[in-house]
Amino acid sequence: MKETMNILAIESSCDETSAAVVQNGRKVLSNIIASQIDIHKKFGGVVPEVASRAHVEVISAVVEEALSEAKCTLEDIDAVAVTYGPGLVGALLVGLQYAKGLAYAIKKPLIGVNHIEGHISSNFIQYEDLEPPFVCLIVSGGHTYIVYMKDYGDFEIMGQTRDDAAGEAYDKVARAIGLGYPGGPKIDRLSKEGNPDAIKFPRANFHDPETLDFSFSGLKSAVLNYLNQMEMKGIEVNRADVAASFQKAVVDFLADNSMRACKLRGAKKMAVAGGVASNSCLRAKLKDEGMRNGVDILFPDMILCTDNAAMIGSAAYFEFLKGRTAALDLNAVPNLKLGQR
Ligand code: KG4
Ligand code: ZN
Repeated sequence: MKETMNILAIESSCDETSAAVVQNGRKVLSNIIASQIDIHKKFGGVVPEVASRAHVEVISAVVEEALSEAKCTLEDIDAVAVTYGPGLVGALLVGLQYAKGLAYAIKKPLIGVNHIEGHISSNFIQYEDLEPPFVCLIVSGGHTYIVYMKDYGDFEIMGQTRDDAAGEAYDKVARAIGLGYPGGPKIDRLSKEGNPDAIKFPRANFHDPETLDFSFSGLKSAVLNYLNQMEMKGIEVNRADVAASFQKAVVDFLADNSMRACKLRGAKKMAVAGGVASNSCLRAKLKDEGMRNGVDILFPDMILCTDNAAMIGSAAYFEFLKGRTAALDLNAVPNLKLGQR
């Protein structure tokens, strides 16, 4: 194997078209992200068919820009990586077909990457000395997991959501209080003006006290019920208080379960990943809890929390080292599970 391996990675699972060149899984030579937020804003959320079309329109330009920013030509690329799931099927297919065509044309291996494993890998970019084992909390628009990462590409799922993902709850509550899409950053901002103890929103009550699972749909319903009741009583709602109280409920739940996971495995390191890892309240709470419990809390930069191809290029490298390359009939798997291959 060559000493340096340049992977050209492509990510198009949802509403970001991204391409990156990543060296040896850790060094990002380029990471170009074309966001579709402005396109989907007017619909209040991601419209799958619109997302696929937007990916088709920009993917060639995004890949070209990634190569040119990395000062590479296709001759310098040793493998092509692509997200093949989970995500929106039409959106995934755009990146997948492009990557397959490219791998075939340049006669280099194709590596299929699980999007969630990509999120975890963003920490290997941020912290170049980071090695498993560690606990990882993955909080995105579609997924919420606590995993114990035993080795590269080898996970134990310790907890997961039984219904909505954390980011999904943020987006739904944001819509209910009229903040628009994407809701997470807007609730984050508005919460700073509100009182997190103003409203007591209940946490899901599982019958198993040992579980590290989450549930956010009950919390979302509690917020909707509160808004309805206030409307019926003709009382004006303080949106900042609603946002701050909802956020406190989410963040406390995430922090409690992930800290319990660290204790259970005796982990001294916990990495956080996914779009919600940008949340300022979550960052502050976990830093605080980490300090109290002797756990080092790792957060990637914001640009690596959001969907991006650099994290896919990083995960792909570790897949490649394990000999896991894909055939050219690789298909999109919209509901691909973490650890499933
Ligand atoms: O990881 P990501 O970019 O896409 C998925 O794989 O789903 O995550 C997007 C999610 C959205 O639900 C968005 O509202 C949420 O991450 N998000 C945030 C923040 N920034 C993005 N949630 C809370 N606070 C934030 N600052
Ligand atoms: Zn994501």
